[in-house]
Amino acid sequence: MTSPHATLVERIGTRKARVGVIGLGYVGLPLLVEFARAGFDVTGFDVDRAKTDAINAGKSYIPDVPQADVASFSASGRLRATADMSQLAGLEAIDICVPTPLRKTKDPDLSYVVHAVEAVAATLTRGQLVILESTTYPGTTDEVVLPMLTAKGFTPDVDFFLAFSPERVDPGNPRFNTKNIPKIVGGVGRASTEAAAALYGATVEHVIQVTSTRVAEMVKLLENTFRAVNIGLVNEIALMCHKMDIDVWEVIDAAKTKPFGFMPFYPGPGLGGHCIPIDPFYLSWKARQSGFECRFIELAGQVNGAMPEYVVQLVAEALNSVRKALNGSRVHLFGMAYKPNVGDVRESPALDILELLTRQGATVSYTDPYVATLTHGSETLRSVPQAEAIAAGADCYVICTNHDAFDYTTIGSSGALFVDTRNALKDRTEPTIFRL
Ligand SMILES: NC(=O)c1ccc[n+]([C@@H]2O[C@H](COP(=O)([O-])OP(=O)(O)OC[C@H]3O[C@@H](n4cnc5c(N)ncnc54)[C@H](O)[C@@H]3O)[C@@H](O)[C@H]2O)c1
Repeated sequence: MTSPHATLVERIGTRKARVGVIGLGYVGLPLLVEFARAGFDVTGFDVDRAKTDAINAGKSYIPDVPQADVASFSASGRLRATADMSQLAGLEAIDICVPTPLRKTKDPDLSYVVHAVEAVAATLTRGQLVILESTTYPGTTDEVVLPMLTAKGFTPDVDFFLAFSPERVDPGNPRFNTKNIPKIVGGVGRASTEAAAALYGATVEHVIQVTSTRVAEMVKLLENTFRAVNIGLVNEIALMCHKMDIDVWEVIDAAKTKPFGFMPFYPGPGLGGHCIPIDPFYLSWKARQSGFECRFIELAGQVNGAMPEYVVQLVAEALNSVRKALNGSRVHLFGMAYKPNVGDVRESPALDILELLTRQGATVSYTDPYVATLTHGSETLRSVPQAEAIAAGADCYVICTNHDAFDYTTIGSSGALFVDTRNALKDRTEPTIFRL
């Protein structure tokens, strides 16, 4: 009799394996579509019926996932979505891509992962492969997911297979996507690692096997902590340069001509998105359980977390230069998303800047071609078209996010007071432009 492992790997190889993805957001939908493109019959699961309905209607709601792909895979019957978790029962491979936010106390909130795993455990069948992709602290797969799946008496790595594979997708990146970003896999045992590597090997260009789920979990946290700490460093250098009257942007541009040993990071209004502001705290939380204090992470968190306040201070300085106060001024923000060319406002520092300015008595409006409306307290703000915003003559403008869609030539030549947190107006030398 062939083993469940051999059967699974054979069915993956021949694309007969049915694959499911739980959580169809920025990570899950692109992955679901790549599995379909690789030739698998795929089912997406989400508690949000608006998403499952959209997919079944052949529509994409993630900018990086072409509409045509969802439409054609769904029309061919190879791709479908549902909120009915009992349908997990018929699948051979299941990928979990649900959110892993922080609680207010900055402790990990694994409740979404636990709910998803509960659904998997309820329908777990012999021979199934389960992969966690959500970013989390080292030990989650072994200590949280595995015990939930062994409750039925199945032996891991023999009766079912469990692995962790960090998602490294960078929404809005025109060069790197789910298919060409190398995939790390680490299983609870050799058979699990191999089964997960077979599934991704059929789907993405490069797969790297590591020896455990903990290593795979730690890889992702090292990558994102590296970014958070380096951004913290460069933000501190930017504050230092401001005091010393040195242009930090010119320093970075010159430093990056060194062909080795230097990698440019840029200052900005603060961290945003679902990864860099959050993931390092998953690591420091877990390290603390082992009696280890992650000093770099805490320090970078403090420096990066203070950047929105620093931007507001710059706005006050800019207004002061024309004898105006923040209180009563009209301040207009360009770009509310946390990074260029996407509409994701999760943890966006522009939201903190909006809040801090409002608290100081400023009237705030915004332009963001990717964010049509924003809820701020009891108010709904609407994006004002760029030309209208400039014509309205705000007391100060702030470039929070440097979307390519903005017309920087018009913005730069407007003569208005500007705080530029991204060096988007780098070629302009007017004294009305205050650079971070
Ligand atoms: N967005 C990124 O750029 C990115 C990059 C790498 C890794 N990650 C990580 O990937 C994970 C997912 O992030 P995302 O950005 O795709 O989140 P998202 O919020 O865009 O999508 C998550 C989806 O999961 C659904 N969901 C929540 N609980 C569920 C449940 N019990 N069953 C079924 N569906 C459920 C939500 O409705 C939502 O549609 C997180 O751990 C994140 O840290 C994100």
